[in-house]
Amino acid sequence: MFSEEFRQAISSANSVMILTGAGVSKESGLDTFRDAGGHWSRYNPIELASPQGFAADPKLVWEWYSARKEKALAAEPNPGHFAITEMEQIFPNFSLFTQNVDRLHQKAGSKKVHELHGNIMSAHCNNCGLVYMNEIDITQGLPHCAVCGGYARPSVVWFGEQLPEEILEKAINFTKSVDIFFTIGTSAEVYPAAHLPHLAKESGAFVVEVNPNETSFTRFADISFRNPSGEILPKILNLIKEVKSYG
Ligand code: APR
Repeated sequence: MFSEEFRQAISSANSVMILTGAGVSKESGLDTFRDAGGHWSRYNPIELASPQGFAADPKLVWEWYSARKEKALAAEPNPGHFAITEMEQIFPNFSLFTQNVDRLHQKAGSKKVHELHGNIMSAHCNNCGLVYMNEIDITQGLPHCAVCGGYARPSVVWFGEQLPEEILEKAINFTKSVDIFFTIGTSAEVYPAAHLPHLAKESGAFVVEVNPNETSFTRFADISFRNPSGEILPKILNLIKEVKSYG
């Protein structure tokens, strides 16, 4: 099932970077964005995931994020999340950068998780930036900042907003140095995250894609598994353990 080239890349790898997207949470029952039936097949992303959408209708935006947060809280990590958690323990130099906001990687036990697009569990003031970690209950009306009176908003990066600078810089620097780069469950459509697999390839990494569908990145990957991540990642983990004669 696995090529000699892939085995070799694993055998000689010390540093591994993983980039995940919504597809890694699909088998946990959470919708992706661009699949048939995904969020953007039902909603206009600018209305729900942009500063102008929030300004126009903060109630609609809060209702959507609150519903997604409840689903994320009720969801359980799937075998793909758990395989990534184990990979973190095998490779001395490992980092996981996710575009997901559902915190299922953390729920699966991943420690070195960097959230490129924020998270859906916390909120902050849209005006002064004050962070609210406590429960935001929109049934009591829209949450306002206790300090400046501005609207509180989900701590998710919206279209048109900058990604957290320090995390993006860390992602770019690590991408340039890794031996193997896995791009898992992402359509590779949204920049700057979508640039990372290309940068990895240009920097000499062995790049592995996991996605049941082809993406615009597929033709650049050294190997592309047309499988659901929850199915193939445990098999890749077993290969890693075998090749690294680990455990
Ligand atoms: N395993 C792996 N991949 C899967 C699975 C699965 N079981 N099911 C679907 N996929 C793939 C789809 O083929 C698709 O290519 O997951 C990918 C999900 O792509 P998107 O829906 O575009 O999600 P993502 O790439 O994470 O989007 C990036 O866009 O809307 C913004 O901020 C949002 O973080 C998000 C960003």
